[in-house]
Amino acid sequence: MLYNMYMLLVANWKMNFTATEALRNLKKFSKLEPTDTEIVIAAPQIALAQMAEAAAAEDCKIQIAAQNFDFHPNGARTGEVGIEQIIGLVDYALIGHSERRVYYNEHDKACAQKVAAALSTKIRPILCVGETALERERKQAELVVRAQVAAGLAGVASNRLGEVIVAYEPVWAISGFGGSKLCDPQDAAKMFEIIRDEVKVMFGAANAKRVKLLYGGSVDSDNVAAYARATKAEGFLVGGASLHLYSFRDILDKIELLR
Ligand code: PGA
Repeated sequence: MLYNMYMLLVANWKMNFTATEALRNLKKFSKLEPTDTEIVIAAPQIALAQMAEAAAAEDCKIQIAAQNFDFHPNGARTGEVGIEQIIGLVDYALIGHSERRVYYNEHDKACAQKVAAALSTKIRPILCVGETALERERKQAELVVRAQVAAGLAGVASNRLGEVIVAYEPVWAISGFGGSKLCDPQDAAKMFEIIRDEVKVMFGAANAKRVKLLYGGSVDSDNVAAYARATKAEGFLVGGASLHLYSFRDILDKIELLR
């Protein structure tokens, strides 16, 4: 059934692959032939420039994302990569991924600054939100996610909402945190409603519809269809299953069968 024409499938390669391996994998992934799905690879920083150059080739249908950046344009920020350094290289950037929030104390204010910095360029922000296991246990999931959305999008002008993507990833369902739990698709759907409602409260119903929502958290070819049907997500953010062409291709195939 055709439930959603637009699909964005984002591979988050995290801190995997050397630059040589990443480039080799990009070449393999570029053989994928999606019909109505846009494929984005969030590249390891070390390979960003090379991957961007390879992806710019005419026959490559893959877009590149940064996994993170510093919102300061340039200056004394040792070890960081600033927004100006990724302009022209990437089409998208992940912002506030839970691994950055948890391991690097990235807070909502910094996320908002990054969303604004990305939108001031042609880079489309993918704002990641999601509650931890403890927050869910304490019945604070809705409160936390609403606050992350509200803070992250606070500085966005309503005429730019069509460029904004929000990815809901329950932290406890992300494979990299070692948990083996999957979020029930119905629970994910409830959170999608909450996120849509928060955006509606902020920007009004008509504008809110223009924000794209992705789901992430141990997504694979066995569960992607159930998440797609329950949440009506406009795409997926995939970590572990995006590291190999075969598992990523299986997800893509399942998505395209939904149409
Ligand atoms: P996962 O990661 O698919 O390995 O759970 C998703 C993410 O962290 O974006």
